[in-house]
Parts: sequence; structure tokens; C-alpha cells
Amino acid sequence: MARRLSISSLLTVVGLGTTAVVQAQSGCPDYTNFAMAPQGNKSTGPLGLPFMRPAPACRTFNSSAVEKVISDMTSRLKDPDVARLFENTFPNTLDTTVKYFNSSENLAAQWLRDTANQFAVYESIIGSDKELATLVRAVINNEARYISQYPYCGSFQPPPESGLAPTVNSYALGVIVNPPVDNNTVFECKFEIDSLCGFLKLSRQYYQATKDDSIINEDWLTAIGQIFQVIDEQSQSSFDENFNWISYYNWTGGAGSLSPAVNNGGNGEPKAFTGLVGTHHRPSDDLSTYAFLTPANAMLAVELTNLADMLDDAKSFKNKEIPDMARTISKRVTDAIWNSTVVDNIFAYETNGLGGRYVMDDANVPSLLSLPYLGFLNKTDPSYVTTRKLLLSRKNPYFAQGKKFFGIGGPHVDAWNPWPMSQISSIFGTDDDEEIMTALYTIVNNTAGLGLIHESQSIYDDSTSGYTRPWFAWANSYFAEMLLDLADRKPSLIFKTNEKYVPS
Ligand SMILES: *[C@@H]1O[C@H](CO)[C@@H](O)[C@H](O)[C@H]1NC(C)=O
Ligand SMILES: *[C@@H]1O[C@H](CO)[C@@H](O)[C@H](O)[C@H]1NC(C)=O
Ligand SMILES: *[C@@H]1O[C@H](CO)[C@@H](O)[C@H](O)[C@H]1NC(C)=O
Ligand SMILES: *[C@@H]1O[C@H](CO)[C@@H](O)[C@H](O)[C@H]1NC(C)=O
Ligand SMILES: *[C@@H]1O[C@H](CO)[C@@H](O)[C@H](O)[C@H]1NC(C)=O
Ligand SMILES: *[C@@H]1O[C@H](CO)[C@@H](O)[C@H](O)[C@H]1NC(C)=O
Ligand SMILES: *[C@@H]1O[C@H](CO)[C@@H](O)[C@H](O)[C@H]1NC(C)=O
Ligand SMILES: *[C@@H]1O[C@H](CO)[C@@H](O)[C@H](O)[C@H]1NC(C)=O
Repeated sequence: MARRLSISSLLTVVGLGTTAVVQAQSGCPDYTNFAMAPQGNKSTGPLGLPFMRPAPACRTFNSSAVEKVISDMTSRLKDPDVARLFENTFPNTLDTTVKYFNSSENLAAQWLRDTANQFAVYESIIGSDKELATLVRAVINNEARYISQYPYCGSFQPPPESGLAPTVNSYALGVIVNPPVDNNTVFECKFEIDSLCGFLKLSRQYYQATKDDSIINEDWLTAIGQIFQVIDEQSQSSFDENFNWISYYNWTGGAGSLSPAVNNGGNGEPKAFTGLVGTHHRPSDDLSTYAFLTPANAMLAVELTNLADMLDDAKSFKNKEIPDMARTISKRVTDAIWNSTVVDNIFAYETNGLGGRYVMDDANVPSLLSLPYLGFLNKTDPSYVTTRKLLLSRKNPYFAQGKKFFGIGGPHVDAWNPWPMSQISSIFGTDDDEEIMTALYTIVNNTAGLGLIHESQSIYDDSTSGYTRPWFAWANSYFAEMLLDLADRKPSLIFKTNEKYVPS
């Protein structure tokens, strides 16, 4: 049993992974409940992990390309428990989270911050599955429409064409957002710069896989313009030179509606210009301590360069101003990361441009541990190696270790519940076989016997009550993405033979 579903856990579930999905299909169990108990046959490895895919009739999207990757991988993986985890996790996003899809109308799953992360695992097969490509294109078109209207928000209601009623978000009812939003369109308007990075990442992954530049339409270009605007607004100092308070976005509310209440008129801690872009909340949906979140800026720098490359490559797109601007900002942000966040080879998680540095990491991606995964630097970079060592030690306030489980967590759950997601990021960030295998089996051994990747795991309690979130599609997808990476990078560690596997 999950002990708790905190505010943002619910929000993430309501995004792509709403429980309404499965309930909508008659006779299908709610997947959150389904995921709390072992279901199908057990794997033949020592852990005996259950088969946890919904019955075929209850799956929310079918893809033969996905089924092929599952059989290709499970026939190669040497440990039947790892194979079972791949089989359960790889299709999880498509099995359980697609809320609506109408290929004739180009409408798709409701999107949110996790969408890009959840689809990253399918990047290699988008090009070979037309329906899946259509689904991803529809998600991008939908996101473009929303961002062009509400660039500060990260979670949206289904579009009117879907015929689905908006969901009342009780956590947003007492919140006052400036600029104001329409709650029939916006589900929640926390400002997290990595949400916008997610849109950029999904767009370029789709383009790289398909070379289809039809996504570069009017809404999409308006969304890109809005993203540039937000970048400009959120880079500025809180006070101008005459001590005028600068606020383009703030998040306040009535008593009890905010957790926690946000100081300085809903703006948070003051900041001074460094070249980095501020964010109001973290990728965990928790309030930022200091506005300049290093890993989110790293993701931004990477995705702005990718955006420029994509636009330069796209045949139907001739404008040079947008790619030039993207490269200029990317360079500014990259320089600012190296100049203003690193001391003695240690990256700070957050800074404020006034000397404030918070040295820690949070499991949610983008995190410092995931800098190589994000594409910001090489895993052998001395600053990464030094920072990584610190993050996986007591010097990181959100690192914790128990008898069976260890890793990095965050204040979203609490300091003694590290997240499997941190171990996944850790694997992406090392070539050391022993480190990889320890991290992999720290995850594999700790699914509470349920065969799915959870949000967090208590270091004190490894019984079935010690984890949070039975159904966390993002973590499932990220785990499968990591196994696909090892299949290419380190096949002998996980396969029966040393032959690489890359889905095509
Ligand atoms: C479970 O095992 C039985 C017997 O081997 C097999 O017929 C059945 O298809 C399996 N079910 C699942 C869900 O794998
Ligand atoms: C997926 O395929 C099964 C049959 O295997 C079918 O019952 C189900 O409706 C399909 N799901 C969707 C969303 O098309
Ligand atoms: C998809 O959209 C078309 C065109 O609007 C509509 O006729 C059809 O009923 C829709 N299908 C579903 C399954 O919603
Ligand atoms: C929108 O906000 C109003 C006023 O707080 C509330 O009555 C309504 O239920 C909300 N609707 C949704 C979909 O959240
Ligand atoms: C909140 O943001 C709005 C712009 O959306 C701005 O006009 C207002 O001054 C801000 N308020 C504070 C207290 O920062
Ligand atoms: C920031 O970094 C760039 C490139 O590393 C360097 O050229 C520049 O002088 C630095 N700026 C400051 C203010 O340190
Ligand atoms: C990372 O650095 C190592 C050692 O310097 C080098 O062999 C490798 O090619 C680099 N990888 C990337 C992705 O740049
Ligand atoms: C995983 O569990 C196996 C079997 O109990 C044990 O031998 C192994 O050391 C564990 N690995 C890790 C990293 O905890």
C-alpha cells in the first residue's frame, strides 16, 4: 500500500496518467489499485516478479512496434526478473496513460510536464510506428496550443474537442496566479522551466525520428516565441536599479490554499541576474529555495541548441532569427552555469545570483545526477565526477541509505525516502560496471515484489507499506529507457551475449 499521495503525486497522475483512463473502459480495474497487488504469473528469477500489464482489452494504446521491442529484449536479457521488469515498464505509458486519441483529428493524450519524459523511451520506434508517431504529433500540437496561451503553466485540461470534462483540481482552487488563468484550460499553473524544456525535447525527438516538419506550424512558433519571452522575464533581477520590484509571474492565494505560502507576494526568494533563467517550482513541483535551478538550466541550454539544429535542418523552415536566438541564449545559459554555479568542481543545485548556493540534489529529472543523461556534459567531466561523488554521500542532505535501499530523494516525500529514479540517473552517469550493477539491483530488488518502479522507497521499511505511488508511469518509462541504453552501451552486463541491441 502506498502510504501517501502528496499533492504533486496526484497532479502527475492526473496528467497523462489519470485513473479515469482505465475506469472509462468498462470492466477494467483502476490501474492504481491494480498496481498495489501482484497480478499475473511470476517471473522465474529469485524475485518471482509478477506480470503487471493490464489485460489487452484494458490497454489504452496498442503498438506492434512496442510488442516487438518487448520480445527482442526479454529474449536477450539473462535475468528473468530484469526481463519481467522491462516487460512491465516499457509499455506502461501506452498501456495505462493515454486518455484519448483520435487519429483523424490529431488530438491526443492530455499532456503535462512528464509527457516528454514518458515518451523519450519510445524515441527509437516513433519512426517505425505510424499510429505512435501520430499520437506524439498530436501531443506536440496540443502542447503548442496550450503554451502559446499559458506559457507559465505546466499542467493542462483536455482540449474541448475531446469532449472530456475538465477535472477540478482542489489544490488549485484557492491559488491566485498572475497572470490569471482559465481553469477550464489550465489544470495547475506552477511555473517550472523544465516543463517548457520538455516541450522542446519532445518536439525535437519527434522530428529526429520522423523528419516530419509539419509540427512547425503557427501555434508551435507562437509557443516558441512565448518560451523566449518567459526566458527573458525570468532571467531578470528581482529589483531593478531603482529598487522597483520586477514580477511577471507570481503565485499566491488565500489562507490554507498554498503549501507552503510563498513569500514576497508569491514570488519567492529575490534573485540577481547571472544569465540563468529562474524557476518558481522544481521538477518535483516543490517550491524552489533559490530560483536558479542548475539542472533545469542545463536542460534548457541543451534543448535550445537542439531546437536550433532542428530548425536549421527542417526543409520548410527558412527563418534564421529563431535558431540564432536559441543558440545565443543557450550559450549565455551554459556560460552562466559554469561561471556562477560551480565552486571547487561542485555544482550547486540552486543559486540566487547573490552568493547563495544550495548544494544538494533532488531525484526528479532534471537533476544534477542526470546532467550526462540530459546531454549537458560528459560523464567523465571532472566537475560531474566530483559533484556525483558528493551527491551520493552524506554531504547531500537528500541522500539516505538503509539496509536494502539507498539513493537520493527530496523534500517532496521526505529525507528518508530516496527515489529509484535517482539510481536510474546514476546508471546513465557512469561507465563503471560495478556501480551500474549495484544501482540496477538496488532498483530491481526493491519493487516490494510488485514488478513496477515506484516513486520512493523508505530506508526503514522494505515491506509492502514502505513505498510511495504504486503507479508512476514516468519512473517506469525511465527505467525501461535505462535498460535500452545498457542494451546498446553495456550489453554483456545484462544480456546472455555481448551483442548490442538497438530497436529500429
Ligand atoms: C501464465 O502462465 C500460464 C501457464 O504457463 C500461461 O498459459 C498464461 O498465458 C500465463 N499468463 C500470463 C499473463 O503470462
Ligand atoms: C488493444 O487491443 C486489444 C485487443 O488485443 C483491444 O481489446 C483493445 O481495445 C485495444 N486498445 C485500444 C486502445 O485500441
Ligand atoms: C474522431 O474525429 C472524427 C472527426 O471529427 C469524428 O467523426 C469521430 O467520431 C472521432 N472518433 C472518435 C473515436 O472520437
Ligand atoms: C474553476 O474555479 C471555480 C472558482 O474557484 C470553481 O468553482 C470551479 O469548480 C473550477 N473549475 C475547475 C474545472 O477547476
Ligand atoms: C504579480 O504579477 C503581476 C503580473 O502578472 C504583476 O502585475 C504584479 O505586480 C505582481 N505582484 C507582485 C506582488 O509581485
Ligand atoms: C563566463 O564564461 C565564459 C566562457 O567560459 C567566459 O568567456 C566569460 O568571461 C565568463 N564570464 C564571467 C563574467 O566570468
Ligand atoms: C567522454 O569523454 C571520454 C574520455 O575523455 C571520451 O572517450 C568519450 O568519447 C566522451 N563521450 C562523449 C559523449 O563525448
Ligand atoms: C539483490 O538481492 C540479491 C538476492 O538477495 C543479493 O544477492 C544482492 O546482493 C542484492 N543486490 C543489491 C544491490 O542489493
